[in-house]
Amino acid sequence: MTRLLHIDSSILGEQSLSRRLSADIVAKLRGENPGLEVVYRDVAATPPPHLSGAYFAARAGGEAPFDQSLRDDLARGERLLDEFLSADIVVIGAPMYNFSVPAQLKSWIDHLVVLGKTFAYTANGIEGLVHGKRVIVASTRGGIYNAAPREAHDHQEAYLRSVFVNIGVKDFEVVRAEGIGLGEAQKNEAVETARRGISALRAA
Ligand SMILES: Cc1cc2nc3c(=O)[nH]c(=O)nc-3n(C[C@H](O)[C@H](O)[C@H](O)COP(=O)(O)O)c2cc1C
Repeated sequence: MTRLLHIDSSILGEQSLSRRLSADIVAKLRGENPGLEVVYRDVAATPPPHLSGAYFAARAGGEAPFDQSLRDDLARGERLLDEFLSADIVVIGAPMYNFSVPAQLKSWIDHLVVLGKTFAYTANGIEGLVHGKRVIVASTRGGIYNAAPREAHDHQEAYLRSVFVNIGVKDFEVVRAEGIGLGEAQKNEAVETARRGISALRAA
């Protein structure tokens, strides 16, 4: 059984393009593999707790803290990591907000990058511990960043790639609709390009 974790992070609800594209990706993969088990998580609707000093210390210490809300946060954080680790495929709806990703998506990622679980420090530097996982990002953005000099301002796709590659993900794909704030014609073309990218994705 192949497991897919579907994440959305746009704050724009029904109006969101990244939500539409991530849903189309999941529908495409599911259509070709009806046995696909899909778990959905909307990090904008239910934001993961921010890391705090107390949280970080408790997680590293491995002992249940006294404080009940901290215990709850730790349990939630563990669930997020387990969900990620048990998925074969992760599809992420990720709009560009202020040159980066939505804060809620960053917060989710902060629960995935965990020393000893998803990466280790070795004599050769950081080693990713996540193997055999496929990550597909549905990227949307108002401007165009696919070439110099604008690409230097892309801390969205570039950031996501850095995170997942550094924790060991080798199979990292992006379906992109960009320039969607630059008028109707550009938006339509961007959506068409993304749809072609979705059709070209290999089956799950
Ligand atoms: C809060 C906010 C910040 C944004 N910041 C940027 C930005 O820095 N660069 C950009 O090109 N587009 C920016 N945009 C435009 C979005 O990336 C674009 O509208 C995209 O489609 C949003 O995806 P969504 O429809 O799934 O929310 C921003 C939009 C919002 C709502």
